[in-house]
Amino acid sequence: MIRKLEVLFTPADFEGLARRDLSRSTCVVLDILRATTSMTTALSNGAVAIIPVSDISEAVAIKKRRTDVLLAGERGGRRITADISGGIDFDLGNSPREFTSEKVRGRTIVMTTTNGTRALRACANAEHVLIGSFLNLRATVHWIRARLPSELLLICSGTFEQAALEDTLAAGALCEKLWPDYAGGQVADSAEIARRIYPLFQADLLGAMKHALNGRRLLNDPELRADVLYCVEREIVGFVAGLHPDGTIRKLE
Ligand code: MLT
Repeated sequence: MIRKLEVLFTPADFEGLARRDLSRSTCVVLDILRATTSMTTALSNGAVAIIPVSDISEAVAIKKRRTDVLLAGERGGRRITADISGGIDFDLGNSPREFTSEKVRGRTIVMTTTNGTRALRACANAEHVLIGSFLNLRATVHWIRARLPSELLLICSGTFEQAALEDTLAAGALCEKLWPDYAGGQVADSAEIARRIYPLFQADLLGAMKHALNGRRLLNDPELRADVLYCVEREIVGFVAGLHPDGTIRKLE
């Protein structure tokens, strides 16, 4: 069997996923700053599940049916407030530091972010969808290596409609670690590009964030600056999370 490895860099790429047959694909969604890092942190701190939705209105509709859920997410980087949602102040924003065990343990969280949850919804038909972050790269590599999917797609969520350096670096780190398993197959140039960029910044991921649009935006905001330091931490989480057929994100076995 020929294995395929590809990286999708921009929202325009991942929106094309709707026209692809993903029934034998494993997708890893990367939104390092900050959605997939926040989701991983929430589950690490005891959240039961996360329900990713694309729109604020979808999140609000779920809250009306299930009052027990927490609402989380951002627009323009900031927690969604009642004036934006049409009446409900969200419980949490998109800062991983907000998803503490005091707030999330035992809770289900409905989450909507600008790009991260859109990327997740775009690959919902894949055989497997993993939530990627620097926090748990090693566990993600182990999970993939144990199954060696015939098609591995690394989906970078991007910033606005553009490619994002931080997501490209995480994709590059995965490409580098999985290269021995996929290099003999069909490797897209996008995977080669990501793998070759990663070593340039590997030793100083925080420094790299100063070259990234969303990294600079967060670093320049005194309330959100610490998020960037947290999002480039490596190997502090030992599990992998994935999107289940019922639409919830939970820890994978
Ligand atoms: C997104 O989903 O676009 C990001 O997570 C934005 C952010 O940093 O809040």
